[in-house]
Amino acid sequence: MCGIVGVVGAENTMGVLLDGLSRLEYRGYDSAGVAVYENSVKIIKSKGKIENLKKKVGNLSIPAGCGIGHTRWATHGEPSEVNAHPHYSYRKKVCAVHNGIIENYKEIKDFLLEKGYKFYSDTDTEAAVNLIDHYLNEDPISAIISAMKRIKGSYALAIIIENKQDVIYLAKKDSPLIVGIDKEKSYIASDIPAILPYTDKVYYMDNMELARVEKGKVEFFDINGDPIEKELHKISWSIDEAELGEYDHFMLKEIYEQPASILNTLKRYIKEDTIDFNSAGIDKNILSKINKVRILGCGSAYHVGVVIQNVIEELCKLPVRTEYASEFRYGSSECSKDELVIVISQSGETADTLFALRLAKSQGAKTVAVVNVVGSSIAREAEHTLYTMAGPEIAVATTKAYTAQITVCMLLAIELARVKNSINEGAYSKMISEIKEIPDKISKILEENKKIEELSLKFKNLQHAFMIGRRMDYGICLEGSLKLKEISYIHSEAYPAGELKHGTISLIENGTIVIGVMTQDEIIEKTISNLTEVKSRGAYIIGITYEGNAMISDACDKIIYLPKTFKLLYPILSAIPLQLLAYYVSVGRGLNVDKPRNLAKSVTVE
Ligand code: F6R
Repeated sequence: MCGIVGVVGAENTMGVLLDGLSRLEYRGYDSAGVAVYENSVKIIKSKGKIENLKKKVGNLSIPAGCGIGHTRWATHGEPSEVNAHPHYSYRKKVCAVHNGIIENYKEIKDFLLEKGYKFYSDTDTEAAVNLIDHYLNEDPISAIISAMKRIKGSYALAIIIENKQDVIYLAKKDSPLIVGIDKEKSYIASDIPAILPYTDKVYYMDNMELARVEKGKVEFFDINGDPIEKELHKISWSIDEAELGEYDHFMLKEIYEQPASILNTLKRYIKEDTIDFNSAGIDKNILSKINKVRILGCGSAYHVGVVIQNVIEELCKLPVRTEYASEFRYGSSECSKDELVIVISQSGETADTLFALRLAKSQGAKTVAVVNVVGSSIAREAEHTLYTMAGPEIAVATTKAYTAQITVCMLLAIELARVKNSINEGAYSKMISEIKEIPDKISKILEENKKIEELSLKFKNLQHAFMIGRRMDYGICLEGSLKLKEISYIHSEAYPAGELKHGTISLIENGTIVIGVMTQDEIIEKTISNLTEVKSRGAYIIGITYEGNAMISDACDKIIYLPKTFKLLYPILSAIPLQLLAYYVSVGRGLNVDKPRNLAKSVTVE
């Protein structure tokens, strides 16, 4: 949830750190800090956004062999300058930044207090830093290994050590860390965008690995201290994709990138009008053995599951359950060997989803991950990985990765149905040709943005809203509602349309806004009845449906029309106006669209 960046061998160490931190601010933004090392360690920290840190650093140009930086999303200890990273050990021998949670920090702290160590912050990180310091009579790699063996929890640690000029040490467990190399310079980061302007060649660290990073050189070690060889990867994202360009916000840019991100995703998996998952090693042999499906994810990724459950049930006639990864982890339902577990995660680092994946794997299920970030933990640990080709997503609220996830899962559902013979060739070809038209249809919806901007004015002073729909349409309401909540701070509830009258209808009063998503012909009339029930109690109704659908006119005060498509593909289209609506409401309320309060892009703690 926090962001890490570091560099060895740059002429402008401070510049690289501050630039990297700005690119990582979406990971967490309650405080930030840097430490640079040339003869001695100099630490500068500040509360709040990176801008505050930049002001504090001012024109200070410190010649330095190496440096580390951190942007924090508080877990232990309030957001404050003292709790900001980097943290320094009591004996001033070790300085480090940390992502993750040290679960047994209290026990470690008590142990170190007894040894005479003193602590200044409320963070768990300070315990880890001092523990490494405690073991430093050994060489740094051995000292870090000793600390790793004692620490419980998750960590990506970037460490600089007294008298080890021009070296950054790394340790990783369950929190991402990458190392990039460019000639005489080396870069480290928690996320690719931080170092993308400097290098596109990276190593991905695995769990319980360490690294010694020097100028243009890196050595990796396992937990026994034995050297290990790792593969150098080339990043395919371009730097423009991680820059704002002509847009006011990353969220708007990413909404507008959806025709391209879906097109790229389709191009990867549709070859000559046939779905081809060879790049992920998924073939007929694997899919034909599947007799049930489970979909796991958190937040928007879970919402993808709610939509896709309906698609798989309808196309494949298989039992499907969708679960929050955070709930599945602690439940008692076991996966079976003939079960396909689809794990969905943009970042590929969400802790709950990663642990859910490990559990499903250990129970013998066939695991397929749908992931956006290449080389992320979930991508590497799943048996098969289907990448969404959305490019870097910087805005905290997901948009283009979400629709790319639905697209990939749709293709998986269609392919599963073909292999299981539950659809015929005609239906298969129809779906392929319709899905290929989705990018152009999204562009058409985006051309209507002014209408949605106008509609957003109705939400400016609103306290709460409701979104209702049935089956897949309900899945889209869940996502639309989350978008509105997270970036506009308007309380919004998504309901299966038939459920309002079982209690929640008591909240409807004059002027309450209720959005109805109605794309599935066989259930539209049912949702219309539910909208009529709330309209007669004073609600203002906004309907989302396909072009030419006259059925809903009487029930709605305002209608947003979607281009026509194959019925199961509507969720990709109906998500777009709800994304735009949330965006314009947030802008209209003067809020920080890209970095909503309390949130972080990648949730690497439980
Ligand atoms: C909402 C949002 C979150 C994420 C969730 C899972 O806009 O972005 O709800 O969907 O935190 O994240 P990933 O997909 O990275 O596992």
